[in-house]
Amino acid sequence: MAFLELRGVAKTFAAASGSRTVLKDVSLRVERGEFVTVVGGSGVGKTTLVSLIAGLLPPDAGSILLDGRPIAGPGPDRGIVFQNYSLLPWMTVFGNVYLAVEAVTPGWSARRRRQRTEQFLHLVELGDATWKHPAELSGGMRQRVSVARALAMKPKVLLLDEPFGALDALTRSTLQKEMARIWGEGKTTVLMITNEIDEAILLGDRICALAPNAAGAPATISLDVPVAIPRPRFRRGLSLEPGYQQVRKQLVEFLTHRREPRSASVVRLVRGEAPSAAETARVEKRRASGVA
Ligand SMILES: Nc1ncnc2c1ncn2[C@@H]1O[C@H](COP(=O)(O)OP(=O)(O)O)[C@@H](O)[C@H]1O
Ligand SMILES: [Mg+2]
Repeated sequence: MAFLELRGVAKTFAAASGSRTVLKDVSLRVERGEFVTVVGGSGVGKTTLVSLIAGLLPPDAGSILLDGRPIAGPGPDRGIVFQNYSLLPWMTVFGNVYLAVEAVTPGWSARRRRQRTEQFLHLVELGDATWKHPAELSGGMRQRVSVARALAMKPKVLLLDEPFGALDALTRSTLQKEMARIWGEGKTTVLMITNEIDEAILLGDRICALAPNAAGAPATISLDVPVAIPRPRFRRGLSLEPGYQQVRKQLVEFLTHRREPRSASVVRLVRGEAPSAAETARVEKRRASGVA
């Protein structure tokens, strides 16, 4: 049995306009210490998948097991980082991390808890910002706090839901590097959701694609590819790695056939959001074949 295992998971949401099955037959295995990335377009059910593993939502079918035990609700054995930081604004950087440490260390002295808090703030290189409040921090720094908070609980698995999606390209690439380093040092088990194929390839031992099998159908994981690129990996030159083109091609092919409805692209455009992985893949394929 894998360390984190999803078997035949389904999720349906009830709505005034009728119910909608978002995920169906989702199976996924993550081994201990593995870094698995999941790519998928916007609205496909990525956050729903994370919420199920986090125990924030119950699945309607199937089972989710972590370290051999079924997930029955939220718990400190899963550290979660969402896209929107979700820090407590009235607390300092230190306070936000300390609170999480406190929650998982009953019986510890304040001194020990302070040490653990400082250790993880240093890990994400936030030592200098310890006494600042979230409002005084850049997006990248806030996300470092979120990562420190999640890791300071020493979870069995770190769940990252598009953690760098709201950051500018430069900050994003810095944090990707940091994430790879942190994972390499601690060998935490990581499941990371992203809408960027290159980010998935840069960080993942394996990449799973979450997409519907046909337009309008529930999403499922039907592509699971290993990334045979040695570590440490570097963004510059990544595309020259022999393993890169092959994985990328597979993902692009897969996501291309699952093009999002035009209406979804328009909504995204109006909101100023980045194009989905599927759309980017489609455009790139056309460009590569000389159509666009
Ligand atoms: N609590 C909810 N109630 C009803 N519908 C939901 C709920 N959460 C998500 N959905 C719907 O499920 C679909 C997938 O959402 P989500 O998992 O957030 O997608 P993603 O993270 O891939 O963008 C969307 O159509 C969304 O509107
Ligand atoms: Mg989401």
